[in-house]
Amino acid sequence: MPRVLMGKRIVVGVSGGIAAYKTVELVRRLVQGGAQVDVVMTRAATDFVGPLTFQALTKRPVQVTTIGVWQGEQAGHVTLGASADLMVVAPATADTLAKLAHGIADDAVTLTALACPAPLMVAPAMDHHMYRHPATQANLELLRSRGVIVVGPHYGPLASGMIGEGRMAEPDELVGAIRTVLGRSGSLADRTVVVTAGPTREPLDPVRFLSNHSSGKMGYALAEVARDRGARTILISGPTCLPAPYGVARVDVGTAVEMLRAVEEATASADVLVMCAAVADYRPRVVATEKLKKRQELFVLELEPTEDILATINRPGLVKVGFAAETERLLEHATEKLERKRLHLLVVNDARKTMGAETAQVTLLRPGHQPEVLPELPKEEVAERIWDAIEALLVRRSAQDEQ
Ligand code: CTP
Repeated sequence: MPRVLMGKRIVVGVSGGIAAYKTVELVRRLVQGGAQVDVVMTRAATDFVGPLTFQALTKRPVQVTTIGVWQGEQAGHVTLGASADLMVVAPATADTLAKLAHGIADDAVTLTALACPAPLMVAPAMDHHMYRHPATQANLELLRSRGVIVVGPHYGPLASGMIGEGRMAEPDELVGAIRTVLGRSGSLADRTVVVTAGPTREPLDPVRFLSNHSSGKMGYALAEVARDRGARTILISGPTCLPAPYGVARVDVGTAVEMLRAVEEATASADVLVMCAAVADYRPRVVATEKLKKRQELFVLELEPTEDILATINRPGLVKVGFAAETERLLEHATEKLERKRLHLLVVNDARKTMGAETAQVTLLRPGHQPEVLPELPKEEVAERIWDAIEALLVRRSAQDEQ
């Protein structure tokens, strides 16, 4: 689970739209991530999803009326908003957006929002004509100008049966947006980090390529955790099936050469480079311009080495982190790589067990330190541990600079 959600207080406001069913999953994910979630609903929202559903997920009372529940020192909606780290209105109907924009507070959602000093995020969901209406657009503009974070809506099938703009953002994107906002002033704020992920593809002819089994999961988790800690995060990604994480600038590349160019450009003003990508070591010497035809004879393919990106990039002040994918004599090979590529940190793993898996067991190697063996952990937690180690390096470096 991402650490940025742990112990955070999030108020989720649900207004009346069919997309409320997605908010159930959003709330489940936030609770699972360790956040304390309070749900407030408009009356119309309860026609789509029952308050009991949210109560069962959050283990907390759900407010539907403006009077709210006064318990001891707790002044209902006012207290709820006052102590929140973030309020998210999902779905936000055209009507609710209009009320939020103009300070109208005649239902539990808009009333709680008005009494909430924390950042406000809205996930609009409505028919595409309602969304495109100048009144709705003006309301959204007004909300944005006040710093409200607007996530979506997206193009796709709508409840009306039409296809257009107005679909609420999916829970995945909303969780990403929430993590981004909660982490804005985190421990990596003001840092720029570059993470590479996934495989590279080296073409053989117009329809074939050489590649590897890298899924990109570890690199994407690293980029998400850097973003959760407030870093400006650039993710240079080879081809993967993963969606671009919210709040991360993704640069898509294909070959090792394309990745090298993208890394050179991105690291020009970066503090950290984490090379998690499984870069192909060789590429076909000649790329056929037409599809290679099948023949009944031995086929010998000539390969030439690709550029070693991590060894090539050597900007002073840049913290360089590598991954060593090994299948035998792990530490021996890794120690050699640490020195040859002049790295500050090397994450060693058994490639056969890690590639494509949800968990990873890694060892952290630093010059002049004993190897630190981590237990097998979900890749998200491995990413947190790696950033803890990188942050310690950044702190040590700043202290050295000051001396
Ligand atoms: N790497 C790189 N450019 C390459 C190959 C690898 O920048 N052309 C980076 C990887 O992203 C990783 C580190 O170097 O961070 C080590 O990659 P790995 O495949 O383990 O090592 P190689 O240098 O390719 O050596 P070998 O394949 O012999 O183990």
